[in-house]
Amino acid sequence: MCGIVGYIGNKPAYDILINGLKKLEYRGYDSSGIMIYKEKKIVKKTKGKVADLENLFTNSNEKKGNIGIGHTRWATHGPPNKTNSHPHTSNSGEITLVHNGIFENYDSIKKVLIKKGYIFHSETDSEVLVNLIEDIIKTKKVKLGKAVYYALKQVVGAYAIVVFDSKNPKEIVGARLGSPLAIGVGDAEYYFGSDATPFLEFTKSCIYLNDNEMFIVNLEKGLTVREIEKDSIIDPFVQELKQNIEEVEKGRYEHFMLKEIFEQPQSITDTFRGRLISASHPISISSLKKYYEVFKNANRIIFISCGTSWHSSLLAEYYFEELLRIPVEVEYASEFRYRNPVINKGDIVIPISQSGETADTLAAIKMAKEKGAFLYGICNVVGSSIARETHTGIYTHAGSEIGVASTKAFSCQISLLLLMALSLGNKFGTINQKRYLRILKELENLPKTIEKVLKSNDIIESISEKYLDSQNFLYLGRGYHFPIALEGALKLKEISYIHAEGYPAAEMKHGPIALIDKNMPVVVIATKKGNYHKVVSNIMEIKARGGKIIAVVSEGDQEIEKLSDQIIEIPNCDELIAPILANIPLQLLSYHIANKKGCNVDQPRNLAKSVTVE
Ligand code: F6R
Repeated sequence: MCGIVGYIGNKPAYDILINGLKKLEYRGYDSSGIMIYKEKKIVKKTKGKVADLENLFTNSNEKKGNIGIGHTRWATHGPPNKTNSHPHTSNSGEITLVHNGIFENYDSIKKVLIKKGYIFHSETDSEVLVNLIEDIIKTKKVKLGKAVYYALKQVVGAYAIVVFDSKNPKEIVGARLGSPLAIGVGDAEYYFGSDATPFLEFTKSCIYLNDNEMFIVNLEKGLTVREIEKDSIIDPFVQELKQNIEEVEKGRYEHFMLKEIFEQPQSITDTFRGRLISASHPISISSLKKYYEVFKNANRIIFISCGTSWHSSLLAEYYFEELLRIPVEVEYASEFRYRNPVINKGDIVIPISQSGETADTLAAIKMAKEKGAFLYGICNVVGSSIARETHTGIYTHAGSEIGVASTKAFSCQISLLLLMALSLGNKFGTINQKRYLRILKELENLPKTIEKVLKSNDIIESISEKYLDSQNFLYLGRGYHFPIALEGALKLKEISYIHAEGYPAAEMKHGPIALIDKNMPVVVIATKKGNYHKVVSNIMEIKARGGKIIAVVSEGDQEIEKLSDQIIEIPNCDELIAPILANIPLQLLSYHIANKKGCNVDQPRNLAKSVTVE
């Protein structure tokens, strides 16, 4: 995690760095810092947010300079204090570095450097690297670029780094392995970022550095990109960015999370664009068309992912087994990568990731690829590592998701997974034609149906007020709603810090029912069709023990209304569409509870948007 920014050119660097860091705060917000150079170097850093960093710049002279680097940190080595914050400076004070990632062998390098007389102030691995670079410059008598190259040959781990040498202030050097790094190419100026958002308003020309690549930007000589392993110069691919700056602004909303919840009709329209033209057209997904035979002959499909994306995977298991009749397994990427799983040729592994950078998912992909699996990636961030590491795949096109809690990305993932399952099921003949057409029609109308669900926002806000003092929540669902119960519970706990558990409703009697009393709110997803009557029985069991029931029901349901303390209605629909709709009130409920409790909804404590450490 952590966010990196940098600038070299002829504009004042301060605003570019500060505003860039604010856009990257979703990647970590334990501490932040910047270095600016104008005749001499100014380094300021602090525990806390970028806003706290801004407060340190009281003297406008300190803001001057056309070159600088910055960092917003999600702590790994050492607590989030000023000393451990980036940028880190070498012992001579000349080399400054920002780093996102982890060096696994930093301790052994640190011992060697200590023997040579180097002094360390922080507990970070990054301070070891900056001093290693300095040591190489001195001992090998090389310039910064070569020194970074030699240093990276010694370190084991993951990194995106940007480095500056105040003896040569017309140059910035950077590299990546495992953590993202983008270069914005302007007119005789260059921007650097963990993603493109810090420079989106200045340039649309972007180079996403690949693993094992490093760059040297020199104001006189321009940009050089090198392959580290082969030590050869490469011609980087300059991509034209399609994102808009409005996408990464809050607009009229109080929080990104709320904005992103309300964007869902548009996001799903974007997900379906060109793929679902109308219910009377065949679904068109080019990557599925191309690899149709691979799917047709698959022995099984294994979904791998983390967190909310894992909940999408779980729902995909229900969709794919129902509509394709191919065995499906769902794995936490972090478990899968370390447990020597049996993978054979003929297995399709589908990683799902919003960021496309999650370290565990990325490592699991590499391992599955080595074992011969076919990798089909589902990512939101275009050009991300997971998108590049897989054989083929599909983008969700949900747009930038800034709120740390995933909302629209999840809705787009599950809508796309249903579309994929329908497309393949129709080709394989494993789905009844009438049902196929009916669901397709409902999917075509999905953005409009979601707009209707969003109209319940006020009702949900007033429900939220009743539960601000609750210490625990249970979320229950059966069948397609079970993954939604898990997702609802995760959303509540991560942003409101209320303990919440999701369960398959029928599992209650095997333990969790012991928790039910008048202080336990239970959110039950109980739409018509599927296991409706069984869920009604589960609700009665909770009612009999005094639990408070908040039920998400189909429009017009009277049976559950009588049993519940509060109900939230969603439109009647096919049971495969219902989980997509039922999730939205749960997002809003979490949002309002967390917001009313005064929690930082967009940047919950201890979390970061892109988890690039294992
Ligand atoms: C929860 C959330 C996380 C992510 C998880 C995986 O709201 O956002 O649980 O889903 O860290 O991230 P991606 O999807 O980027 O691989």
